[in-house]
Amino acid sequence: MKIRLQKVIADAGLASRREAERWIAEGRVKVNGNVVTKPGTCVDPLSDEVRARGKLVPRAQERVFILLNKPADYLTTMGADERGRKTVMDLIKVPARVFPVGRLDYNTQGALLMTSDGALAKKLLDPKYRVPRTYLVKVRGIPDDKTLRRLSRGVALDNQSTAPLGVEVDRVSGKNCFLKMKMFEGKNRHVKRICEAVRHEVIRLKRTHFGNLNLNGLPLGAYRFLSPREIKSLELMVSKEPVEKKTVRRRPVIKSKRTQTKR
Ligand code: URA
Repeated sequence: MKIRLQKVIADAGLASRREAERWIAEGRVKVNGNVVTKPGTCVDPLSDEVRARGKLVPRAQERVFILLNKPADYLTTMGADERGRKTVMDLIKVPARVFPVGRLDYNTQGALLMTSDGALAKKLLDPKYRVPRTYLVKVRGIPDDKTLRRLSRGVALDNQSTAPLGVEVDRVSGKNCFLKMKMFEGKNRHVKRICEAVRHEVIRLKRTHFGNLNLNGLPLGAYRFLSPREIKSLELMVSKEPVEKKTVRRRPVIKSKRTQTKR
């Protein structure tokens, strides 16, 4: 996007817009090596080289956000795999250093957000902001209502209870079924391990949404840039410090007389 030359100089903190306009009029500003004096000249702040009074105006750092529809059999990693497997970095070609926000397992497919904005990525992954991730999970067997309730309350993993989540049967497929799960935290192999904990092995796993982002119209292996509106919606999700829930103090259990042991 092209913007006015005086704004580029002012946004870089080198001068006020008015001052920058004066420099332009005085012939003290160059764009790609050429003096520019025409009022209202527009430049591309990402690609044009602007010098004001001989000084290079730092290029705007545009944050990059992309949504990748990750296929199975791709590793979510920035570096090369020692076993030579394909990685998500093989699928994207963007003029910025982006990295994945969290990870999807090698055999999981679906919505993987990637960005150059480390601070926002960190917040999006912080369970306290409760950014939802939605999964379509094909499991062996068909969980009954009691099992679904157990899953929705959060299942203990590594001796720690996991956060409550939304879960429902999306459709039955022969002896197996697809579950729709909406979760607000992402532990390692989270979905697989909670399903294993209730004895329903995961056969296939796909993340359909990350926050409000969905994969509509995005073929497997393809990616798209987020719109400013989508970026705003991600920022909004983590803009407020969530209110700490009051810890509910449990009443001390008082043993009934009958069960009290005599000393
Ligand atoms: N949960 C898993 O078990 N695997 C994933 O890739 C994502 C969530």
